Amino acid sequence: MPIIRMEGIGEATCDEGRRLVLCIEDAGIDILHRCGGNARCTTCRVELVAGDAGEMTEPERERLGRIADLAPNVRLSCQVQVRQDLTVRVLRRLRDNPDMTDPGPRPIEWPADRPLPPE
Ligand code: FES
Repeated sequence: MPIIRMEGIGEATCDEGRRLVLCIEDAGIDILHRCGGNARCTTCRVELVAGDAGEMTEPERERLGRIADLAPNVRLSCQVQVRQDLTVRVLRRLRDNPDMTDPGPRPIEWPADRPLPPE
Protein backbone atom coordinates (compact mmCIF):
# COMPACT_ATOMS: atom_id res chain seq x y z
CA MET A 1 0.00 0.00 0.00
CA PRO A 2 1.51 3.37 -0.97
CA ILE A 3 2.65 5.74 1.77
CA ILE A 4 1.94 9.46 1.53
CA ARG A 5 4.48 11.56 3.38
CA MET A 6 3.31 15.09 4.08
CA GLU A 7 6.19 17.37 4.95
CA GLY A 8 5.90 18.86 8.41
CA ILE A 9 2.72 16.91 9.08
CA GLY A 10 3.29 13.17 9.06
CA GLU A 11 2.50 10.20 6.88
CA ALA A 12 -0.37 7.90 6.06
CA THR A 13 -1.05 4.88 3.92
CA CYS A 14 -3.28 5.23 0.89
CA ASP A 15 -5.12 2.57 -1.07
CA GLU A 16 -3.57 2.33 -4.52
CA GLY A 17 -5.69 4.09 -7.10
CA ARG A 18 -7.33 6.58 -4.75
CA ARG A 19 -7.24 10.28 -5.37
CA LEU A 20 -4.43 11.93 -3.46
CA VAL A 21 -6.66 14.66 -2.02
CA LEU A 22 -8.87 12.03 -0.37
CA CYS A 23 -5.89 10.19 1.11
CA ILE A 24 -4.63 13.43 2.60
CA GLU A 25 -8.03 14.39 3.96
CA ASP A 26 -8.70 10.93 5.36
CA ALA A 27 -5.40 11.19 7.22
CA GLY A 28 -7.02 14.02 9.17
CA ILE A 29 -5.43 16.89 7.26
CA ASP A 30 -7.70 19.84 6.47
CA ILE A 31 -6.55 20.27 2.87
CA LEU A 32 -8.80 22.56 0.84
CA HIS A 33 -10.78 21.28 -2.16
CA ARG A 34 -13.13 24.13 -2.84
CA CYS A 35 -14.41 22.94 -6.23
CA GLY A 36 -15.07 19.38 -5.09
CA GLY A 37 -12.25 17.81 -7.05
CA ASN A 38 -13.04 19.18 -10.49
CA ALA A 39 -9.72 20.82 -11.40
CA ARG A 40 -11.18 24.31 -11.21
CA CYS A 41 -10.20 25.97 -7.94
CA THR A 42 -6.55 24.83 -7.49
CA THR A 43 -6.93 24.98 -3.69
CA CYS A 44 -6.00 21.30 -3.45
CA ARG A 45 -2.60 21.95 -4.96
CA VAL A 46 0.47 20.35 -3.44
CA GLU A 47 4.16 20.43 -4.20
CA LEU A 48 5.43 17.03 -5.19
CA VAL A 49 8.70 16.58 -3.32
CA ALA A 50 9.42 12.96 -4.22
CA GLY A 51 7.77 10.15 -6.11
CA ASP A 52 5.95 9.71 -9.38
CA ALA A 53 2.45 11.17 -9.34
CA GLY A 54 1.75 9.99 -12.87
CA GLU A 55 0.58 11.83 -15.93
CA MET A 56 -1.54 14.91 -15.53
CA THR A 57 -5.17 14.68 -16.50
CA GLU A 58 -6.13 17.05 -19.27
CA PRO A 59 -8.20 19.24 -16.90
CA GLU A 60 -5.21 19.48 -14.54
CA ARG A 61 -2.83 20.41 -17.34
CA GLU A 62 -5.19 23.03 -18.67
CA ARG A 63 -5.92 24.57 -15.26
CA LEU A 64 -2.32 24.72 -14.05
CA GLY A 65 -1.31 26.11 -17.42
CA ARG A 66 -3.29 29.25 -16.65
CA ILE A 67 -1.22 30.07 -13.54
CA ALA A 68 1.84 32.21 -14.14
CA ASP A 69 5.15 31.45 -12.45
CA LEU A 70 4.03 28.12 -11.09
CA ALA A 71 6.72 25.80 -9.74
CA PRO A 72 7.03 22.78 -12.06
CA ASN A 73 6.42 20.31 -9.22
CA VAL A 74 2.97 21.64 -8.32
CA ARG A 75 0.10 19.21 -8.85
CA LEU A 76 -3.61 19.27 -8.20
CA SER A 77 -4.09 16.55 -5.61
CA CYS A 78 -7.68 16.01 -6.74
CA GLN A 79 -6.34 14.91 -10.13
CA VAL A 80 -3.59 12.59 -8.89
CA GLN A 81 -4.34 8.88 -8.67
CA VAL A 82 -1.92 7.37 -6.15
CA ARG A 83 0.12 4.48 -7.49
CA GLN A 84 3.24 4.57 -5.32
CA ASP A 85 4.85 6.31 -2.33
CA LEU A 86 4.75 10.08 -2.59
CA THR A 87 6.19 12.93 -0.55
CA VAL A 88 4.23 16.15 -0.83
CA ARG A 89 3.97 19.58 0.70
CA VAL A 90 0.35 20.52 1.43
CA LEU A 91 -0.04 24.16 0.43
CA ARG A 92 -3.59 25.19 1.31
CA ARG A 93 -5.31 24.23 4.56
CA LEU A 94 -8.57 25.25 6.16
CA ARG A 95 -6.85 26.28 9.38
CA ASP A 96 -4.91 28.94 7.47
CA ASN A 97 -8.12 30.42 6.01
CA PRO A 98 -10.26 31.73 8.89
CA ASP A 99 -12.72 33.20 6.38
CA MET A 100 -13.75 29.68 5.34
CA THR A 101 -15.95 27.34 7.37
CA ASP A 102 -15.20 24.11 5.52
CA PRO A 103 -12.64 22.76 3.03
CA GLY A 104 -15.20 22.41 0.23
CA PRO A 105 -17.38 19.63 -1.18
CA ARG A 106 -15.78 16.23 -0.80
CA PRO A 107 -14.46 14.92 -4.13
CA ILE A 108 -16.00 11.67 -5.31
CA GLU A 109 -13.96 8.47 -5.37
CA TRP A 110 -12.53 7.42 -8.72
CA PRO A 111 -12.53 3.75 -9.69
CA ALA A 112 -9.09 2.49 -8.72
CA ASP A 113 -8.53 0.77 -12.06
CA ARG A 114 -9.44 3.76 -14.15
CA PRO A 115 -6.57 6.05 -15.12
CA LEU A 116 -8.67 9.08 -15.99
CA PRO A 117 -11.46 10.81 -14.09
CA PRO A 118 -14.99 9.71 -14.96
CA GLU A 119 -16.91 12.02 -17.28
S1 FES B 1 -8.81 21.90 -8.23
FE1 FES B 1 -10.48 22.19 -6.90
S2 FES B 1 -10.35 20.51 -5.58
FE2 FES B 1 -8.70 20.21 -6.93
